[in-house]
Amino acid sequence: MADELLIAEKIEAGYPGKQILFGVDFSVRKGEVVVLLGANGSGKSTVLNAVSGFIKPFGGRMLFNGQNIAGLPSHQIFRHGIAQVSQARDLFPDMSVEDNLTLGASQRGAAKAAESRTAVYRDFPRLGERRGQIVRTMSGGEQQMVAIARALMSGPLLLLLDEPSGGLAPKFVDEIAQIMARLKQGGITILMVEQNIKLAFDTADRFLVLKDGTVAERGDVGQGVSQEEIVRTIYL
Ligand SMILES: Nc1ncnc2c1ncn2[C@@H]1O[C@H](COP(=O)(O)OP(=O)(O)OP(=O)(O)O)[C@@H](O)[C@H]1O
Ligand SMILES: [Mg+2]
Repeated sequence: MADELLIAEKIEAGYPGKQILFGVDFSVRKGEVVVLLGANGSGKSTVLNAVSGFIKPFGGRMLFNGQNIAGLPSHQIFRHGIAQVSQARDLFPDMSVEDNLTLGASQRGAAKAAESRTAVYRDFPRLGERRGQIVRTMSGGEQQMVAIARALMSGPLLLLLDEPSGGLAPKFVDEIAQIMARLKQGGITILMVEQNIKLAFDTADRFLVLKDGTVAERGDVGQGVSQEEIVRTIYL
């Protein structure tokens, strides 16, 4: 289909001596948010890592804008326009908010970086107020915002988010939900992992449930499948 930005076909991937994904198929259309659900260890982060090239799939195809990116090194996939916020966030803790953001735009010209910085401070006003703060001294929720903002600084076509609400207090989960809503309004395409079903369902257009490295269920959010049914599928 013309509006499909990413098509993953029969992805087989894992770590040395350990296959985790067994023929995973899904697609992400331009402008939509797709959420990966699943129990701990079901392979959610591995899917994101296979898309971003952090790990190299050993089978299948990953078509991004029609080009097969499976097996390309991560820096090349990043240049194609895929930015990942990993579960560990991977910030530079001893640098300021602004310096972390600037690093996110290091592949781009000064004008584009300045444009993105303005957009990011508009979408994350709290970061604008704290642009000089050293990241290590920020709360977990604020650091998560820096990590998402830094990924946006590269002007990605596809944003990969691994548990944006992970480990955050309810107040920050609400704030992340608002940020997700704003990003979605802005038209960005997102593939995210999220264990908070409410946040996932408030944000996403479609969902996939992973179980032992295969897609156990998929569907459109808000089309008859209740959150309770999904929770049962994930854990039973
Ligand atoms: N670097 C690694 N080396 C070896 N095995 C790994 C590595 N990273 C993950 N695994 C294994 O792969 C499996 C799937 O892990 P993955 O991180 O994809 O799960 P997940 O669904 O994201 O789980 P969680 O909800 O806990 O984040 C797990 O059994 C995990 O132990
Ligand atoms: Mg994970």
